Amino acid sequence: MTHTNERLRWVIGNWKQNKLRFEARELAEAVAQGRASAVGAAEDRVRVGIAPTFLCLDLAVPFAPPGDALWLFAQNVGAQDFGAFTGEIGPTMLLDAGVNGAIIGHSERREHFWETDEDIERKLRCALAAGLQVVLCIGEPLEIREAEQHETFVISQLSTAFFNIPPEHITERLVLAYEPIWAIGTGKTATPAEASAMHHAIRTWMGETFGANGRDRSILYGGSVKPANAAALLAAPDIDGFLVGGASLDAASFLDIVRTAAGG
Ligand code: PGA
Repeated sequence: MTHTNERLRWVIGNWKQNKLRFEARELAEAVAQGRASAVGAAEDRVRVGIAPTFLCLDLAVPFAPPGDALWLFAQNVGAQDFGAFTGEIGPTMLLDAGVNGAIIGHSERREHFWETDEDIERKLRCALAAGLQVVLCIGEPLEIREAEQHETFVISQLSTAFFNIPPEHITERLVLAYEPIWAIGTGKTATPAEASAMHHAIRTWMGETFGANGRDRSILYGGSVKPANAAALLAAPDIDGFLVGGASLDAASFLDIVRTAAGG
């Protein structure tokens, strides 16, 4: 398979609340060691990232040296840089710790920790202003999909998230991830056609709102991505890589997905 557009491909492993420190070190090392051969000749257009827990980010820093080799993401980030916000970690603190970016607005944060679109807007604004790489997640629950309101729902998530974002912050630092909630951790994947239609709607809205800088952002798919379904999803238009949960907890299966994204 060839890569048919200029957009960067990303494959990012979201480890969620998994792995003790010794396990996290082993997994980060195995991903770092296998990455170059999985990416092969696609080095300049495929980026690979991992998102361990906050407590394990420091262990992964030595495996993610400056440069594009392996990108390190937090799974969440505060909506402010510093201050009296007990329990929070801000974007500048992540950068200071050698972390490249953060996932913002994951559906598990929205569902279990009541993060609203407005919270996500504040996090996004603060993170982009601080210079953090961001993966912004959007996606609809099953009942919204069944009611055929999924595009309206996701566009409304986007319009709130980007309400106050200055256009100059819409750069390569921003990656979007469409993750239908009914496909996360369920073994049920959106079909390539379903995912692709939504990615097209997202790209159209980003283009209408931010011009070429919006339209050209990489849009990842997430939700039960595995080595067995990665190629079919990537062959669909507008799918620029993956946010991988369960299959990223094993280096071999994660690297298989990376290899597919690299076209090998
Ligand atoms: P999953 O998780 O691959 O286990 O479905 C994806 C995600 O939540 O990012």
